[in-house]
Amino acid sequence: MNSRSICSGRSANRLRPFSLLLFIVFSATVQALAQPTMSQDRHLPSLYNDDGDGFTIIAHRGASAYYPENTMAAFRGAVAMDAEMIELDVLLSKDGVPVVFHDAHLEDHTNGSGKVSDYSLEKLKELDAGSWFDKRFAGEQIPTLEEVLQFASGTIALNIEIKTEAVTNELRGGVEEKSLALVQKYDMTNHVLFSSFDYRAVAHLKELAPEISAAVLYNNRWPNHKLPHELINEYGADAFNCSYRELTKKRLTSLRKYDIPSFIYTVDRKPRMRKLIAAGVNGIFTNKPDLLRKVVEDYHR
Ligand code: G3P
Ligand code: CA
Repeated sequence: MNSRSICSGRSANRLRPFSLLLFIVFSATVQALAQPTMSQDRHLPSLYNDDGDGFTIIAHRGASAYYPENTMAAFRGAVAMDAEMIELDVLLSKDGVPVVFHDAHLEDHTNGSGKVSDYSLEKLKELDAGSWFDKRFAGEQIPTLEEVLQFASGTIALNIEIKTEAVTNELRGGVEEKSLALVQKYDMTNHVLFSSFDYRAVAHLKELAPEISAAVLYNNRWPNHKLPHELINEYGADAFNCSYRELTKKRLTSLRKYDIPSFIYTVDRKPRMRKLIAAGVNGIFTNKPDLLRKVVEDYHR
């Protein structure tokens, strides 16, 4: 039986355009439901020294294999090693200044003790953040985010990780708004990728400045194992960052299917670097940016 035998004659001719319209609307709806619902309008930071390979060499806490992490020495080292981006961690001092430090407590990486958030900036600046690594770095201070932005602006892109300890429910006046204002002050809006394990920070940043780049940092310990596209969609993020240990086949499939940029931490070994580059990730965090630079160059040779 063909379509002619079902609908024939004048009334069928009048109905045909209407049925066609219905069919088009129906197919479009089905297609829309089957497609990713997220916006494809993702913002990724531009690199000052982009070599055009679509891959980013990210110095984790600076060149932290060779220098005390999250110090100006480590950041200068990263630039000298031709990294394309520096990753750093931001907490708030007691008097509310964004400072660059990873741990909530001071013991392991300074000569101080107690919580960072219990110290004013003035007191934090008195601490030695270099000697724990090597006596050569005695006197290295905990930098403020402002100092790092001043150094990086016009030179190297940044990944600013907002530490969970500093995040609150408040949209206004918190670590996100303060950090964002500094990024804007130093004209780095297009050169910064924010990220956080606390997705409230991602949502706040996107609400405050939709044009800013922000990534969700995946945490395997959380019970709700959502896939990258689900997380990106839910929090309006631009990228998915996770540990290489968490880059499962299922997550990789989600990243590829929905064309989601991914940045993977923290990789200091050549074979793993090569494997991840071959898998098509957009960037790798490493404590050894000089090694990753060499691996990238060898890979493209
Ligand atoms: O942002 C990548 C990585 O730094 C996240 O883990 O603990 O080193 O801040 P962590
Ligand atoms: Ca970090």
